[in-house]
Amino acid sequence: MAASPIYLDHHATTPCDPRVLDAMLPWFTERFGNASSATHRYGWEADAAVEMARESLAHSLGAADPRELVFTSGTTESDNLALQGLVRAASAGEPHLVTTAIEHPAVLDVCVALEREGARVTRLPVAGDGRVDPAAVAQAITPQTLLVSVMAANSEIGTLQPLAEIGRICRERGVLFHTDAAQALGKLRLDVEALGIDLLSACAHKLYGPKGVGLLYVRDRRPRIRLLPLLYGGGHERGLRSGSLPVPLVVGFARAVELCLEELPGEADRLTALRERLWNGLRAGLPDLRRNGHPSERLPGNLNVCIPGLEADALIAALKDVALSSGSACASASGEASHVLAALGLSDSAARASLRFGLGRGTTQAQIDIATARVVEEARALRERGPRSAGLRKH
Ligand SMILES: Cc1ncc(COP(=O)(O)O)c(C=O)c1O
Repeated sequence: MAASPIYLDHHATTPCDPRVLDAMLPWFTERFGNASSATHRYGWEADAAVEMARESLAHSLGAADPRELVFTSGTTESDNLALQGLVRAASAGEPHLVTTAIEHPAVLDVCVALEREGARVTRLPVAGDGRVDPAAVAQAITPQTLLVSVMAANSEIGTLQPLAEIGRICRERGVLFHTDAAQALGKLRLDVEALGIDLLSACAHKLYGPKGVGLLYVRDRRPRIRLLPLLYGGGHERGLRSGSLPVPLVVGFARAVELCLEELPGEADRLTALRERLWNGLRAGLPDLRRNGHPSERLPGNLNVCIPGLEADALIAALKDVALSSGSACASASGEASHVLAALGLSDSAARASLRFGLGRGTTQAQIDIATARVVEEARALRERGPRSAGLRKH
């Protein structure tokens, strides 16, 4: 059987860490109770496990009270609950939201849906390095603004946003601040108090936890945040998210975050060094390579590069032994170039020539060296064969 491809797509998802799986396993089998069953030990045990996990996750985020966390199915649901829940709970007028042009569709597409229901949305541009200007956030806020939603780290270019400055502005102006931290949780220290965050979305599967579980942090101090639920039913999660809790996934989520934070300082340095090795190796072989995003204010494991003169999709298809992506699932589905790269000011052809490397816990130096050599080799071969085989389309 052929060897498994080298996995460099850790922004899409990550393998579940065996230590996380070990923590989850008993909750699938002998300890299978429903956390809402209040009449017997099976239920009590499951409930205690959920509450321990909630406490651990709240502690990781710097949340004052574990009850501020709502478990969901993932970041997409958390983003929907934050934005839809807030706008639908708003009493009168034309609610206004401020966001950026480079958010994930889990925020941007919700904004489009809310506009159809009468909300107004301001989408702020970003600089060439992918950072939003906090002064532009301040300027966009009006008396009708309910919420500012700015992601912590971008999933394509890895750029980190100035959360603390944006949080301070929101607090001063009395506006709620939401951040999509799907790519940031476990990779950076996030403290909702220090950063002035009122709502935070995240999930487990980006940080070596299981797929199918996420959380929404909802600050629970004055002024009280009112959200309408997306799902009605048994009134779980203080009425914000009905449905029996996936106990094994919740337990795994907490364990995954604990492990990431324990290992964070060393792992961040290791991944940064590997990323720079990759960047330098690629540049040595392809001198006209360009880096997309911020040179240093980015996720340790993210590199996004433009290789002029070819289409990234053709290169990715040729690289059967390296699992990579161009970074934008929407681009492959719709045939449109990435909205993130377009917002950075890249031309359509430069965006189509860009690919994303996502390094992670299992990535080794030997893998980086092989991947570097293979990318250089295939990119040169594609270019030599000319624009037709390099995948360049006529536009
Ligand atoms: C920034 C960001 N938000 C939201 C999502 C969606 O996350 P989930 O798969 O947990 O719904 C992703 C996943 O790629 C992401 O990177």
